[in-house]
Amino acid sequence: MTFPLKNIISIKDFSKQDINLILKLAENLEPVARSKQQSDSLTGKILGMMFYEPSTRTRLSFETAMKRLNGGVIGFAETGASSVTKGENLADTARTIAEYADALVIRHDLEGAARYISDMVSVPVINAGDGAGQHPTQTLLDLYTMKRILGKIKGLQVALIGDLKYGRTVHSLSYALAMYGVKMSFVSPKELKMPRGVLHDLKRDGVVAQETADINEVLDDADVLYVTRIQKERFPDPEEYSKIKGAYRIDSDLIKGKELIVMHPLPKMDEIAQEVDNTPYGKYFEQAFYGVPVRMAILKTLIKSFS
Ligand code: NCD
Repeated sequence: MTFPLKNIISIKDFSKQDINLILKLAENLEPVARSKQQSDSLTGKILGMMFYEPSTRTRLSFETAMKRLNGGVIGFAETGASSVTKGENLADTARTIAEYADALVIRHDLEGAARYISDMVSVPVINAGDGAGQHPTQTLLDLYTMKRILGKIKGLQVALIGDLKYGRTVHSLSYALAMYGVKMSFVSPKELKMPRGVLHDLKRDGVVAQETADINEVLDDADVLYVTRIQKERFPDPEEYSKIKGAYRIDSDLIKGKELIVMHPLPKMDEIAQEVDNTPYGKYFEQAFYGVPVRMAILKTLIKSFS
């Protein structure tokens, strides 16, 4: 089967088959991601990176993925050192980097930014997070993590916890989990509930997720606690943030004896106690590693098919 998507903008553009194709390829590439095997799949190819917002894992795992496939990377990790500070617009910046690179990765604070530039350049564009919108490659690695650690995706029960309003990772992930028939619960303070638009789309597809503000309601049945950071930078009013921060904290006592794993896209603040890191529950660093084979699969597929 050939992969139909030239650009990775929203998980809503994927079919389940498209997702499975990437997950399968990621599995095949894992030995290369672990440096147990070498690959020259993308020799001579260049990835262009445009990061208008901070990033550690997404940017560095894309770079690692490209380099493990013997390709090169150019771009900026912050706008300060680029002509963006001189006032260059997004379209001109993207069109220029597209002249140098075989694919572009963009993270931007504006929802829709990745889609916008994908209409302007001829190389594949990958959305590495657009405001509170989508983060599709994170979702692919989240799914891969569940599959690798729990052996399946279908039939799991997943609780999405924290900032469901502004968190782009949970927006993307909920659409994907719906495709696999995963039973979801949404746990958040009432001010940070899953947006109505997402709930509406899920309902249209026959998915009704339990919504609650009480984490204790999900602990017995969940296979995965997918915990998220309160997205401080997206709050219009800092007062509102200070009222809500610290609303949830997962610690060893809370999950002791439960059969579940704890995932988090990272960075984490105080929503997970550090003591969880070294227990069999805490899977977030392993999850961060899986970003490498999954992004290798994405880059190889897009650059081989569309550049
Ligand atoms: C997330 C993001 O940027 O959306 N991080 C990531 O990509 N791994 C989550 C966050 O910033 O809270």
